[in-house]
Amino acid sequence: MRLPTAYTVRELHISPNVVLSPMEGVTDLTFRRLIRQIGGAGLTVTEFVPGGSLAHGDRKVMQTVELDPDERPVAIQLFGRDPALLAEGARVVEGLGASICDINMGCPSKKVCAHSGGSALLKDPALVARIVRAVVGAVSIPVTVKMRSGFDATSRNAPEIAEICEAEGASAVAIHWRTREDKYGGERAVDKIAEAKSRLKIPVLANGDIVDVESALRMFRETGCDGVLIGRGAVRNPWLLRQVSEALAGAPITVVNAAEQRRVMFAYFDDLIRRFNRPAGAIGRMKMFAGYFSKQLPYGDALRPRLLRAETVEALYEHASAYFDRLDQHEGGDEAAFFDYLPPERPPRAEASAALGA
Ligand SMILES: Cc1cc2nc3c(=O)[nH]c(=O)nc-3n(C[C@H](O)[C@H](O)[C@H](O)COP(=O)(O)O)c2cc1C
Repeated sequence: MRLPTAYTVRELHISPNVVLSPMEGVTDLTFRRLIRQIGGAGLTVTEFVPGGSLAHGDRKVMQTVELDPDERPVAIQLFGRDPALLAEGARVVEGLGASICDINMGCPSKKVCAHSGGSALLKDPALVARIVRAVVGAVSIPVTVKMRSGFDATSRNAPEIAEICEAEGASAVAIHWRTREDKYGGERAVDKIAEAKSRLKIPVLANGDIVDVESALRMFRETGCDGVLIGRGAVRNPWLLRQVSEALAGAPITVVNAAEQRRVMFAYFDDLIRRFNRPAGAIGRMKMFAGYFSKQLPYGDALRPRLLRAETVEALYEHASAYFDRLDQHEGGDEAAFFDYLPPERPPRAEASAALGA
């Protein structure tokens, strides 16, 4: 089976067909820049912002959707439930130079659903139609929609909702296989993505738990999708989009050594400090990144608590530096490089009780 390597959103050619999925608190300017620099992203998407706040020029929201001058194609994502406010927000999105305006119909959070936005919209097809019609009518850039497969197990209606989006002028849809009720659990079921693909003419992108090249190729094969969105997997392994696009193109897949991992982690930390202008503002994002990134590093379980407990940026840099020095030694063949780094092994319970005189 020959897999696609690109897709077209109206006149916009997205190549490679691997997209950085929007993540609130993660896919800010610095993270998107990191992923772009590594390569393999055909499209990046901002964190979602409320359409109404964007329309009113809220300063913090405007900062959230700031784009790099050379970051194209890029989508800005809006959430909300009021068609007129979303249309107004979309005009701002176009004015900011975004290539695409994306509408969120997938967020499971109470904050968003409480106002009937995000995945709550899946329960209101008539409102979905009004929203897409209003936003498409307000801008000349393509409009896309990102959704979950349904609200819960009894209403997995993504194909119907996607058809409504297409009929109202949306240029592509992305479907996360989970329902709203699944939150971040649930049992993998990509049938609704495959069904939407068979029913729609516009591109259908698939999303959910793509963590390596294998799971990406499996998603393409099982759904026939035109492209994939990768979220958490890209924080854990920022080279993942590049590796997936290489696999799709039949090119050799990038292998990353300790020196490159060190370079990327510190380049990202440095960029965060520049962006936040003061180290204290950056430390939360550094820890968020470190929490995911360390999961794919050798002895990462021992590194993670050191980084998460660091109280200052300096301490965080020191721990990361000491870790990568050990990793260099380890890669150089020094088996004992992490010898004193691991937490002391706990004695088995019976021995511990005996030692305590219990
Ligand atoms: C921390 C976090 C924030 C997220 N924020 C958004 C968001 O702003 N907009 C959106 O459409 N989805 C958001 N998502 C969902 C992701 O885009 C994606 O659909 C989901 O994580 C499944 O893909 P993955 O398994 O590749 O991470 C978020 C997910 C996470 C983990």
